[in-house]
Amino acid sequence: KDFLTITSHELKTPATLIAGYADLILMQERLSGEESELVKLLREGISWLTNIVDDLLEGLRIDAREMQLNRRKLHLGEVVASALRWLKPLIEKERSLSIVVGDFSEISPLHADDHRLREVFVNLIGNAVKFTPDGGEIRIEAHEAEGYCHVFVRDTGIGIPPSELERIFDRFYRLGDPMLHSSSKTAFMGGGIGLGLTICRGIIQAHGGLIWAESEGEGKGTTLHFTLPIMGRSG
Ligand SMILES: Nc1ncnc2c1ncn2[C@@H]1O[C@H](COP(=O)(O)OP(=O)(O)OP(=O)(O)O)[C@@H](O)[C@H]1O
Ligand SMILES: [Mg+2]
Repeated sequence: KDFLTITSHELKTPATLIAGYADLILMQERLSGEESELVKLLREGISWLTNIVDDLLEGLRIDAREMQLNRRKLHLGEVVASALRWLKPLIEKERSLSIVVGDFSEISPLHADDHRLREVFVNLIGNAVKFTPDGGEIRIEAHEAEGYCHVFVRDTGIGIPPSELERIFDRFYRLGDPMLHSSSKTAFMGGGIGLGLTICRGIIQAHGGLIWAESEGEGKGTTLHFTLPIMGRSG
């Protein structure tokens, strides 16, 4: 474990340096359009690499049950907005997908870790974008019931066979090859290593909530649900 943690961590130092130099090049005014496109691709590649390293580190931490939450009062709608800003480069590439965000204004404030929850939304929405062919729709909605807030991310994508609905949360689990469905998307998202949902489950459980997947089957879309307790109302 130590070896992996140290190696993953050490990989980030050169990656951060390369990213910094790429940013410096992008700031030059005399770059041609093509040159800056190429450097941007280089920059995306570095982000991909560091995301994988982050996921590995995160995966190791979940293993060690060391998930630490930095809780504060937050509004879920703001977390969703921040996740969507983060996903902007990916979503902009996918103009043919429509993203519908429900009304979060009625949801009580939560006492939770905003960075971790943003991570959950980034992965769930990122997955929905990755696994939904052109022309599809992604909805992000929430409602409140009995001291819980129930959130779901629903897509009209490739779906998941019923037998696999539990297994997608397993470490390194990936269903088939998403490249077959959407190569440009998965290339941007780093292809994926199958840790995203494992990390999401860790984060939601650490908050005292539940996360599960629902699908009508292959080709019929997928819905990822999670709940979070609303605290501080009844004491
Ligand atoms: N919205 C979805 N539609 C269809 N399949 C999905 C969806 N979300 C997840 N899956 C399936 O579950 C697997 C695991 O998802 P997970 O987010 O853990 O990994 P990943 O997205 O492949 O990689 P990573 O998140 O580590 O970059 C995916 O590879 C895919 O097979
Ligand atoms: Mg993922």
